[in-house]
Amino acid sequence: MSPDAKHTVAILPGDGVGPEVTDAALRVLEVASERFGVSFDTSSHLVGWTAVLATGSPLPDATLAACRSADAVFLGAVGHPDADGEPPERRPESGLLKLRRELGCYANLRPARIYAALQDQSPVKPERVKGTDLLLVRELAGGLYYGEPRGWDRAAGRAVNTLVYTRPEIERIARTAFELARGRRRHVVSVDKANVLDVSRLWREVVTEVASEYPDVRLDHMLVDRAAMELVIRPAAWDVWLTANLFGDILSDEAGAVVGSLGLLGSASLGEGVGLYEPVHGSAPDIAGQDKANPVGAIASIAMMLRHTFEFDAAADAVDDALEHVLGSGLRTPDLLGTGGGQAVGTLGFADAVADAVRGQG
Ligand code: NAD
Ligand code: IPM
Ligand code: MN
Repeated sequence: MSPDAKHTVAILPGDGVGPEVTDAALRVLEVASERFGVSFDTSSHLVGWTAVLATGSPLPDATLAACRSADAVFLGAVGHPDADGEPPERRPESGLLKLRRELGCYANLRPARIYAALQDQSPVKPERVKGTDLLLVRELAGGLYYGEPRGWDRAAGRAVNTLVYTRPEIERIARTAFELARGRRRHVVSVDKANVLDVSRLWREVVTEVASEYPDVRLDHMLVDRAAMELVIRPAAWDVWLTANLFGDILSDEAGAVVGSLGLLGSASLGEGVGLYEPVHGSAPDIAGQDKANPVGAIASIAMMLRHTFEFDAAADAVDDALEHVLGSGLRTPDLLGTGGGQAVGTLGFADAVADAVRGQG
């Protein structure tokens, strides 16, 4: 990335803790851009329930246009209990789903790595969780989330969603997983439910075909129910897990818990153009507005943005190192104060410590 080019980032804070973790992460981005001499042109836009209340839509046209013309999009979280009874077009989550699809973001990268300082924090025994470094590669633009027909016929007391994947959809996400595995430990586990679902049998066949293009990468297949178990009993055994949309959603929350907190996971959604970066967690209504949210997932997402969209690895490394350093220093948001001890700190306090570390004063 060239230091004098203009880099635009559309910021979508969203709902609940979304604005809090977004503010926190932007503090770190600001310091990283100062230290490395690059400037980011950021603009903030409505999404989610906040956008419904202001405009009637969870993804206003102006927001989508801003995202399309940006180099990258950073999103906090969407979702609000008040939206529970709303029809699909007024639900915050449908704004996010539309955004992912409109941006062509079909590959959702969700790394789950154990921070050295948090080995005692995991609900899994330290000797089992030690060394965990899993990359979930989740298909994000298809599957059960988008298949037609869908809908709820209230009068008939019947609702339907459709699970559908086509060969090209499976091929492209499989290639993403194999390419990423080449830069890691060269092992892909494709997670499916091929003992029951026709779609999974197609998935397995296509992934096996794609694997022949990557003879240097080992491929295994695993049924999703077993995968849920393996993640808890042997989290450190795995390198890259390739999953369909829904399976990846479920397993990524589990992966967050295994490494200590859902609030730790960041993500990158990549594909046809603009990259979308968001923490894995949701709007966490139970702790919103209390300066309690863990900003690590949001900050880690900023590091992924620096790496994947802007190819600014030095800045990304500095942010990742700063996270490791601050967790190593013992600062803990409330979600991490369970068993391992540490010094309590709020969302912004934690982010400021990370910013200081990036600045070189940590
Ligand atoms: P959630 O991820 O919001 O929260 C689950 C639990 O984890 C809660 O106890 C919460 O307090 C905790 N938690 C989440 N993020 C945390 C953080 N950063 N620091 C500390 N603790 C954190 O999931 P939920 O409660 O099932 O869903 C709430 C809303 O969020 C729903 O409307 C859902 O649709 C939405 N959601 C949005 C996204 C997204 O925007 N990407 C992701 C997941 C859920
Ligand atoms: C996630 C969330 C979303 C998903 C929801 C909010 C649509 O749970 O990003 O993990 O299911 O993809
Ligand atoms: Mn989820």
